[in-house]
Amino acid sequence: MNLVLPRHEVVVVGGASGIGKAIVLAFREAGAHVSVLDRDAEGLAELVKHDPEISTEGIDISDFEAMERFAEGKEVDHLVVAAAMGSGKPAMPFWKMTPSDWEPVIDVTLMGTVRSVYAFTPSLLRGDTERKSVLLLSSVAGQIGSPTDPPYSASKAAVINFAQCAARDFAPHGIRVNTIAPGMVRTNLNRSVYEATAAETGVSYEDWAEEKIGKISPLGRWQEASEIGAMSVFLASEQGRNITGQTLNIDGGQVMHS
Ligand SMILES: NC(=O)c1ccc[n+]([C@@H]2O[C@H](COP(=O)([O-])OP(=O)(O)OC[C@H]3O[C@@H](n4cnc5c(N)ncnc54)[C@H](O)[C@@H]3O)[C@@H](O)[C@H]2O)c1
Repeated sequence: MNLVLPRHEVVVVGGASGIGKAIVLAFREAGAHVSVLDRDAEGLAELVKHDPEISTEGIDISDFEAMERFAEGKEVDHLVVAAAMGSGKPAMPFWKMTPSDWEPVIDVTLMGTVRSVYAFTPSLLRGDTERKSVLLLSSVAGQIGSPTDPPYSASKAAVINFAQCAARDFAPHGIRVNTIAPGMVRTNLNRSVYEATAAETGVSYEDWAEEKIGKISPLGRWQEASEIGAMSVFLASEQGRNITGQTLNIDGGQVMHS
């Protein structure tokens, strides 16, 4: 199978750590040029130290004009949006939160994704559109009304719906749009859920996660960020050219099981 993407231009928003970083490395392995937009200056510097061919830009996805400026005049083959945040608050039942707790989560996780797609739409519509794609990171939490963090779950559900709209609108240009919904991946964001909900009980992060995974996932194991990276490259490749408007769960069977 030919999964090389030489001379493909990839932009990963939120690629300085975790799953986004694994996606960056997977695209680099496939020979693509990758630009990473993130607000984490330290993470961006580490990426460049690891691979000086990676381009980086310190941008917060709340700043639509900054993303537009970055995108201006560029041709982009694949846009990946991985940036997101949770509320960092306990939320069971949901009324433990206030409506204002929802706002920053919706602004980054949903609206940051929306802003990214809008900012790069002219770059996607430029040039040979038939080989282009958009990948938005959703979550199993966007499909099963996960109680852990309602504004996060609602944002991820909306990301899936927006991807379907965008898939329809980009289809006449041959541009494909999909979402990946990971289950449990060891990252800062995943750990923040533990810190908001279980850290005070004294149970360790690993024990909390093992118990959760045992309950929710038929395959009963962690998902690895590199697995999300591999699927991202497949979806961007020629082999994925008939896949659009889909949500791919990389979750050990969790959503199927729920
Ligand atoms: N880790 C999991 O278990 C899991 C499960 C389901 C879905 N996801 C999704 O995967 C994606 C990647 O998350 P992760 O787990 O790797 O988390 P992470 O915290 O390691 O990575 C998120 C990245 O987004 C960046 N970011 C956050 N807010 C930003 C902002 N306002 N502007 C610019 N950059 C910003 C961060 O700096 C970081 O580099 C997210 O969309 C997340 O919702 C993760």
